[in-house]
Amino acid sequence: MEFAGKSALVTGAAGGIGTSLVRRLRAAGAQVAVADRLTDGIEADAHLPGDLLDPAYSDALPQRAADALGGLDILVNNAGVITRGAVTETSDQDWSLSLGVNVEAPFRICRAAIPIMAVNGGGAIVNTASCWGLRPGPNHAVYCMTKAAIASLTQCMGMDHAHQGIRINAVCPNEVNTPMLRSGFAKRGFDPDTAVAKLGQTVPLGRIAEPEDIADVILFLASDASRYICGAVLEVNGGKPVS
Ligand SMILES: NC(=O)c1ccc[n+]([C@@H]2O[C@H](COP(=O)([O-])OP(=O)(O)OC[C@H]3O[C@@H](n4cnc5c(N)ncnc54)[C@H](O)[C@@H]3O)[C@@H](O)[C@H]2O)c1
Repeated sequence: MEFAGKSALVTGAAGGIGTSLVRRLRAAGAQVAVADRLTDGIEADAHLPGDLLDPAYSDALPQRAADALGGLDILVNNAGVITRGAVTETSDQDWSLSLGVNVEAPFRICRAAIPIMAVNGGGAIVNTASCWGLRPGPNHAVYCMTKAAIASLTQCMGMDHAHQGIRINAVCPNEVNTPMLRSGFAKRGFDPDTAVAKLGQTVPLGRIAEPEDIADVILFLASDASRYICGAVLEVNGGKPVS
């Protein structure tokens, strides 16, 4: 996949999937603006650190990326947070955090990016949902709801903005070997390496996903190879259903 001359904005760029994605986009020729709470040490063409819970920051990100890179062809809303528990164990803070990062920020960023892409003849947006947003798993009620919301928003935007030459799709991973998953194991007192290996045995392909497995699918959805795909929610699960 070739991205020479393309400009991309990636949120969650310092995380597991984000790090791999930024490297691959740049290796394929794209200019990349990185957004995360801290972006120090990431090799990129523009650094736009900040907190996605700040509406003014999210609203401004696409224009700032376009100004820094000379345009905006690709947006990847990859940042996310996971909160565990049933509704009865969910605090107001968990609710605001999950909705804020996983739904409101991508909504704001898409709303600002679409007109910028439209005047330049189009673009591609990839949102990160989850298999758990398509069919919920246990004990993560609000997380699953936020991922269902971003999946649905993606389907709606995919229809509504195709006529502007903007393709909007979502990637829906199952378990991925990133800090998000590993820190969850550590918090619950499990050794992350052992837990990841054990979890891998539950996947028909024999292992959980590595960040690169997801980044490659995001690259595909951002590339011309997927030029006729709009509003898709693409499961990347190694054959493992949500159970
Ligand atoms: N790891 C998995 O098993 C898995 C499965 C399905 C979907 N996903 C989704 O993939 C995406 C990437 O996750 P990951 O596994 O790489 O996780 P990660 O925790 O490694 O990375 C997430 C990044 O988002 C950033 N972020 C979170 N809140 C932010 C805020 N308020 N402001 C700015 N940045 C913020 C974090 O700093 C972090 O760098 C997420 O949307 C996640 O929900 C992950």
